[in-house]
Amino acid sequence: MKIIGIITSPRKEGNTAWIVNKILEGAKERGAETQVWYFGDLDIQPCRGCWGCHKGDRGCVIKDDMQKLNDAIDHANAIVFGSPIYMMQMSAQAKIFIDRMFARFSPRYSPYFKAENAAQKKLILAFNQGNPDSGLFQSYIDYTKHMFELLEFEVKEVPVVTGMRNGPAHEREDLRTLLKDIGSSLVGE
Ligand SMILES: Cc1cc2nc3c(=O)[nH]c(=O)nc-3n(C[C@H](O)[C@H](O)[C@H](O)COP(=O)(O)O)c2cc1C
Repeated sequence: MKIIGIITSPRKEGNTAWIVNKILEGAKERGAETQVWYFGDLDIQPCRGCWGCHKGDRGCVIKDDMQKLNDAIDHANAIVFGSPIYMMQMSAQAKIFIDRMFARFSPRYSPYFKAENAAQKKLILAFNQGNPDSGLFQSYIDYTKHMFELLEFEVKEVPVVTGMRNGPAHEREDLRTLLKDIGSSLVGE
């Protein structure tokens, strides 16, 4: 089983990176092949809204690292997508990535439409936030989960790590087992 992590925080050694890597570690221990992608290392530009991707079969007109990432997604069975909460939402990097997914999907936004490549890939949607209140952004997180489901991902779990303003994730002993278990549950279902 191939699992890729996508870290949409600009901080390569931040909480999002640690959380995604812990989930991948749990999967790796159960035999999964894992790979991690850091947005900080990638050149991924915002969608230009030209609709070029829906005309003919040339794909997106922007030639940047999204092609590499799309290729990794094509070859993966599951994705661990991590974003910090920025201003009550996902990071701008995460949104840029999602807009660029438009090139892979029908513009009908229909849950009945079967996407060609991303169909039924498993997804762990991992958020983390400074505020300790886990209910604070729940409606946004539910909405984002639904959006990924419309994009044909099978969303398995949506861990939301809270209270990051009180200390970094790697100092939280309670998180290690919890996150590794999420990764291990992805394997061999
Ligand atoms: C620009 C910015 C906006 C943020 N907005 C929120 C917010 O709305 N709610 C919240 O609880 N935390 C917020 N935070 C805190 C981050 O979610 C938190 O520090 C997170 O762990 C950062 O992840 P990272 O270490 O991977 O960068 C914000 C942080 C930044 C830098």
